[in-house]
Amino acid sequence: MKKKIIFFDTTLRDGEQSLKFNLNTKEKIKIALALENMGIDIIEVGFPISSPKDYKTSKKISQIIKNSKLCGLARCKEKDIDMVYKSLKKAKNFRIHIFLATSPIHIISKLKTNLNEIIEKIIFMIKYARKYTDDIEFSCEDASRTPIDNLCLIVKKAITAGATTINIPDTVGYIFPQEYYNIISTLKNKVDNIDKCILSVHTHNDLGMAVGNAITAINAGAKQIEGTINGIGERAGNCALEEVIMALYTRKKNMKYYNNIDYNKIYKTSKIVSKICDIPLSINKAIVGKNAFSHSSGIHQDGMIKNKKTYEILDPKIIGLNKTEFNLTSKSGRAAVKYHMKLMGYKKYEYDIEKLYNNFIKLADKKGQIFNYDLESLAFNTKVDNYIEFYSLKYFNIQSSSDISIATIKLKCGKLIKLEAATGLGPVDAIYKVIIRIINYNIKLIKYKLTTKNNTEKSTGQVDIKLKYKTRIFNGIGLSRNIMKASIIAIINAINNIWRFKQIKKNLKK
Ligand code: KIV
Ligand code: ZN
Repeated sequence: MKKKIIFFDTTLRDGEQSLKFNLNTKEKIKIALALENMGIDIIEVGFPISSPKDYKTSKKISQIIKNSKLCGLARCKEKDIDMVYKSLKKAKNFRIHIFLATSPIHIISKLKTNLNEIIEKIIFMIKYARKYTDDIEFSCEDASRTPIDNLCLIVKKAITAGATTINIPDTVGYIFPQEYYNIISTLKNKVDNIDKCILSVHTHNDLGMAVGNAITAINAGAKQIEGTINGIGERAGNCALEEVIMALYTRKKNMKYYNNIDYNKIYKTSKIVSKICDIPLSINKAIVGKNAFSHSSGIHQDGMIKNKKTYEILDPKIIGLNKTEFNLTSKSGRAAVKYHMKLMGYKKYEYDIEKLYNNFIKLADKKGQIFNYDLESLAFNTKVDNYIEFYSLKYFNIQSSSDISIATIKLKCGKLIKLEAATGLGPVDAIYKVIIRIINYNIKLIKYKLTTKNNTEKSTGQVDIKLKYKTRIFNGIGLSRNIMKASIIAIINAINNIWRFKQIKKNLKK
């Protein structure tokens, strides 16, 4: 029989705890809705005793979320438990999550007590919380560093007192997979009332093992997995739920589990969390990183074109991502170039692949990444030198105050020199408006990203932009110690790409 895996998300509690700022109520609601939509079983909305804002937000969320069960965290204190109850009592389904440390280092150094007192407290507080609900989770904080006999005793007492879920956290991300497996199987074998509870695991990523440990624990008998979206959380973070979910999906033939997750919502949820929490994803992040489904080397691109399964174990469409991407660089081969031309609708006989590929390599060596419009330009723009920039910057002056910014820019446009000025809400807005005034293209700025290299007063600013022109997207990049100049160069770079594209269209019409 297949076993249901319960996904418990703590992005709004353990995840938020690690942010440099607090999420506001609106932001938490947006994340909670995304989690509910994704099919998360239990959402830990906060730690209501920690602040009036956390309490109010938990209460607000309890009026909105209907499908996922809500949960609030409490220390082993009556007032904490009362606050969780008060904040969640209107929820359709709620759980009280109580925790207390059980490892010697925490008991002696942090709590300054002993094991017997800890056990008494756990029993008392679980019984206390049972007056509010029969859905009680108890977490043995730092369980992975708790001697196994003590852990077995604590778990047995907690279940007898009325806990229905027992969580075994690897609070400090210390455990190795095999050791975690042994802890979970020992609990299953030695605690005689273990069948009366659901065993849960909560892993941290200090040694990079959070996801591996969670999967191992499932194989040992754990039924609930706790983690966060994108793995955000204390220190090196928590177990990334999207990674566990997709690992189980990818290897489903070997595993007999099912769950409630709508895989298609994973990418969107990850984006929402990354944006609201202001934590950009590293490009090589598993499942949701920018490069997770993009292929760079010529050999890999060739394999992918022949059969996607050669280098992709997972179809990006499953997580709600539309495409596999090829990075066109000097490492790409003819197959990738032909493939992109085909995607754009060009037939083989319409261009000379040898000539195109030779020019592609030369341009890629110079530019780094090549986009579709560069390929078109190389293939069809025989009259236009692809290295020539039709637009170039001659002069600029930016004045910016608290109320208004004024940009004056002089551009060389082919053989003409044009000078214009415009005002804007900020300097980038003013720059953008003045350039549009000069070139007179109907474009829309859809991405503007400023990054700095080496983070000192001497750092170089890099501006990456995307412009939409008709149905196509054009990229631009600008580098300068002066970030205003970097912004102007990025826009000029993109409009030069648009200009080349327009030349091709003209040439093709002739
Ligand atoms: O890491 C941990 O031990 C926790 C508990 C409160 C569950 O976050
Ligand atoms: Zn934690």
